[in-house]
Amino acid sequence: MSRPSAAAVSRAHFAHSRSPSGNGATLGLSRVAPEPRQRGILMTRSTILTTRRLRVRHWLSADVDPYDEYCNTDEVMEYLDGPSTKREIRREVAWYQKHQAQHGHTFWVVERKRDRALLGFCGIIRVWERQSPLHGELEIGWRIRADKWRHGYAFEAASAVIDWAEWQLPDEVVYARIHQDNAASHGLARKLGMRRARAMEARRGAEERSLRMFRLRL
Ligand SMILES: CC(C)(COP(=O)(O)OP(=O)(O)OC[C@H]1O[C@@H](n2cnc3c(N)ncnc32)[C@H](O)[C@@H]1OP(=O)(O)O)[C@@H](O)C(=O)NCCC(=O)NCCS
Repeated sequence: MSRPSAAAVSRAHFAHSRSPSGNGATLGLSRVAPEPRQRGILMTRSTILTTRRLRVRHWLSADVDPYDEYCNTDEVMEYLDGPSTKREIRREVAWYQKHQAQHGHTFWVVERKRDRALLGFCGIIRVWERQSPLHGELEIGWRIRADKWRHGYAFEAASAVIDWAEWQLPDEVVYARIHQDNAASHGLARKLGMRRARAMEARRGAEERSLRMFRLRL
């Protein structure tokens, strides 16, 4: 199955992320049923985009526990330095929320529509590490809980995220940084149409030596 083109994606796909009042709120930042403030960040329940089976949405405080339980496992974290502590998970979620507030996009929650099960995350961030040759570039990321692997969820979510980026961040290049042994992510990147970015790899430092870099021109 090939990734649907941007043209094939209906604007209705992103309808949830428009302001309900139609007052031109920025896509991805619409505010619906605000949750109480926690750790200084106003969290909102709002959807960035939807696909046939999935909802891609903002993080909520209630996501920390299921994310920790299902995604912070040895299997999922095999190529990501292993599981984190609960405290690190809270910091990670807060970081994603802060990135959303600053840039209008982040690694968003991926939830299954039919039962609202949290499957993982997928989204786009700006590479923040100054030592990386990708510093300041867009990076796509994905993580799906292991008991839901091989159902096509990552591809479905990442395809929609790329379509979102084509619409919202045109003229940019999207990169992925993937551990050299992470065959599943290499396969996913290639299925999405990404190709090795050897020029970038040639410029990376020792700390990124085990990573393969992929790129997709929007
Ligand atoms: C990578 C990951 C997100 C894939 O999730 P998924 O929902 O199982 O992926 P999909 O079912 O959508 O598969 C899409 C494509 O990915 C590739 N793929 C997925 N799992 C694979 C595996 N075990 N081996 C080889 N290729 C695999 C295939 O190309 C597949 O397409 P196909 O079904 O037509 O063969 C999942 O394995 C994961 O969360 N891994 C741990 C987190 C991680 O490593 N994140 C990346 C950090 S850079």
